[in-house]
Amino acid sequence: MIRKVAVIGAGTMGNGIAQVFASKDFSVQLIDQNEKLLEKGLNTISGSLDRIIKKGNLTEVQKSKILSNITPGSGLHNIAPDSDLIIEAVFENKSVKQDIFKTLESFVMPECIFASNTSSISITEIGSVCRQDRFIGMHFMNPVPVMKLVEIIRGYATSDETYNNIKNVSVQLEKVPVEVKDYPGFISNRILMPMINEAIYCVMEGVANKEDIDTVMKLGMAHPMGPLTLADFIGLDVCLAIMEVLYGGFADSKYRPCPLLKQMVASGKLGRKTGEGFFKY
Ligand code: CAA
Repeated sequence: MIRKVAVIGAGTMGNGIAQVFASKDFSVQLIDQNEKLLEKGLNTISGSLDRIIKKGNLTEVQKSKILSNITPGSGLHNIAPDSDLIIEAVFENKSVKQDIFKTLESFVMPECIFASNTSSISITEIGSVCRQDRFIGMHFMNPVPVMKLVEIIRGYATSDETYNNIKNVSVQLEKVPVEVKDYPGFISNRILMPMINEAIYCVMEGVANKEDIDTVMKLGMAHPMGPLTLADFIGLDVCLAIMEVLYGGFADSKYRPCPLLKQMVASGKLGRKTGEGFFKY
């Protein structure tokens, strides 16, 4: 049974994942490189819980209990060797992720399941450096406390036992798990990112202005956010990284990243997190 969880990366996805586990009374270690990043992550969790309190769905006492379920730690060496599940949620770089799992492999008990929250990198490739049968993709959506979906990606060698454990734990989190095979972008980003990329082509070609492109998708297709607002929300660097995985993985020109997306990433206009992307924040 999974009780002790460690989450690596206190950024947007990592702190959201830590919050949902802590809210269901799991014991959670939140790990990042330094105190500053951990403090930022914990503040985000506190703010997110305040929103739920404001809606009348949580009390201050419950908030304190949830926060007390989370133990921050700087550096991988702080992870408890007897953890049941370790979820990596660092930025999208295969070798960085592999290095983390190689390190974990050297001191974490063999029973522990390793999971990556990667949004598109091959689970089989990341997991090839460690316990492949106990390696799996657990892809949460942003904002993690709100979005119901968890894509569960089975690598080539992921065991049925590992899959079933992760499926059960997702249900315990009140999420809806969907089983997906290990192909580039899985399901979510194979469909979502080409739409966002196409919206960026529409900006580049001047088909309509940015606000109107978003309005078409919001009012015409009932999307909660237009694709450009969503791109800013996800981060344009993340969108580009995913398009590159699709483009390289399928070797199909239909996935080529839009040149405007590349330019914006090169100039550091990454969306909400840098204060400017398609829109200003
Ligand atoms: N923590 C807790 N609750 C939150 C929250 C957070 N961080 N953010 C929003 N909420 C809650 C609000 O309290 C509110 O709750 P109620 O319904 O109980 O009132 C609800 O979510 C809606 O929030 P708001 O009223 O503030 O704002 P909204 O109606 O505009 O919704 C949104 C915000 C949920 C983000 C909505 O715009 C949305 O669903 N957008 C699309 C998000 C999306 O597509 N996410 C997937 C991105 S792709 C991804 O993550 C994968 C990848 O690999 C790139």
